[in-house]
Amino acid sequence: MLFTLLGVILTCTVTWLYLRWLKVRSFWGKRGVPHEPPHPIFGSLTHLTKINTSKWMIAVYNKYKHKTPYVGIWLFWRPALIVNDPEIGRRVLVKDADVFRDRFLNSGKSDPIGCLNIFSVNDPTWSRVRRHLTPVFTTAKIKHIQNLIAQKSKELVQRIQIESSKNKLIDIRTMFADFSTDIIGTAAFGVKCNATLTGKDPMRSVTKSFQTYSFIRGLNFVSIMFFPELADIFRFSFFPKSATDYFTKIFRAVVKERGGYDKPVEEIKDLLDTLLKMKQNAAKESDFMSEELLIAQATIFVQGAFETSSNTLAVAIYELAYNTEVQEKLYREIVDIKERLGGEDFTVDALADATYLNCVIDETLRKYPPMGWLDRVARKEYQIDENLTIPAGTPVYVNFVGMQVDPDYYPEPQLFKPERFLPEAKGDLTPFTYAPFGEGPRNCIGRRFGQQTVRFGLASVILNYELKPLPNMPLPNDIEFNKNAPFLLVELLHVNFVPRH
Ligand code: HEM
Repeated sequence: MLFTLLGVILTCTVTWLYLRWLKVRSFWGKRGVPHEPPHPIFGSLTHLTKINTSKWMIAVYNKYKHKTPYVGIWLFWRPALIVNDPEIGRRVLVKDADVFRDRFLNSGKSDPIGCLNIFSVNDPTWSRVRRHLTPVFTTAKIKHIQNLIAQKSKELVQRIQIESSKNKLIDIRTMFADFSTDIIGTAAFGVKCNATLTGKDPMRSVTKSFQTYSFIRGLNFVSIMFFPELADIFRFSFFPKSATDYFTKIFRAVVKERGGYDKPVEEIKDLLDTLLKMKQNAAKESDFMSEELLIAQATIFVQGAFETSSNTLAVAIYELAYNTEVQEKLYREIVDIKERLGGEDFTVDALADATYLNCVIDETLRKYPPMGWLDRVARKEYQIDENLTIPAGTPVYVNFVGMQVDPDYYPEPQLFKPERFLPEAKGDLTPFTYAPFGEGPRNCIGRRFGQQTVRFGLASVILNYELKPLPNMPLPNDIEFNKNAPFLLVELLHVNFVPRH
């Protein structure tokens, strides 16, 4: 009797799953959307752990380019859409941003720091927090970190000198992560960090744990990004637990040192002050912001800033080592700026006006956007074009990493040509084919902060060192990217730093 019952339950379950699978599998076909047949478990995500997801996005782009403006995929069994077209991308991210205000990724409710930060939180909390934080990240407001970045840039030059004098091979990805951790760690948590010179610091131990994309951490991210329901069931988290414990501890200690949550913030010195001010301003509007909400923002500033900035610096330095003409042109510009400043430290304004430096950074972010595919989810049914309407809840990915290497938009995309971004050439670029900081209301809030960090780091290194390739290292177009990381992050890279003086 028991066996018969079990047999009936099993048969019903298998039949239900099979019928459901038939429905899932036919989702894009029925709508006439080009797609590859999905895997019965992973859907379209069979590349996971084999190739970096950004590289996979480029492959999908190239396969369907000129055939269709979008491609249907499955995140396990959930249909999602990859948008390969600038005009549809513009509508999703900007014109109809109200429909696509939310991200699909979600780190579940069991991880408060992971789910309350503005990168992963959705409305209504996202709008509340973003409204308070946006004014703080303007160029004028973040000028207060100029001295900090200038100091850390000098330490960067010293670090290269110390390591080169010991004939050590410098792992540039790690060195720039030490540098960017110091800057964002100090700015967001108000504690002194000393990793640029020493390679070690408690804050750096935390960002190292962020950088370790082990299989398990990769699994956490896969679930958060592509199967958020599992994040709650298995208690997956955006940040390692040791990291959130550490951040909570130091955040509390520094707030106490500054007089507590209620002491009015008179002068904003860093990002931590801005978070305190945000809480106080919200309270004036009878809006309560919890301690967890503040710590979540400080934590995402660290995660959002250190890896994007350091990765950009590492690949820029690597490309410059292989592109001597570009390097020389940049060096001349930086020398001129230094002379104009009378030999004094670089300033935010002087580097913001450095045309070629900014072209080098733009070109680096074209070839290597750390987050080159932008995640959104449709709040309601949405008409993509005259042929396709997607149901509410469909995840949509705008594929900039693909568009940014399309030869129709960027001729000879494998070449490193900062000249594409010179003011006189920029007008020829096709709008909405380039968005390394994202687009629309949900774009990167730390863009100016990140640009400042990269400008100072790059200018300081170029002024002091000539960069040369080392034997046995891959050519720039053959660089390896982390397979488990959710974004386009480089692995170990070395160049030769030859002192200029
Ligand atoms: C080279 C440096 C950087 C790059 C390339 C970069 C890129 C990006 C991209 C592509 C997004 C997604 C935007 C979208 O979906 O439209 C993003 C979001 C974000 N970034 Fe950055 N970023 C950088 C630096 C920073 C820095 C320095 C901070 C903090 C100080 C930061 C904090 C954030 C936050 C909090 C978000 C989420 C914004 C929201 O959802 O409202 N980023 N970034």
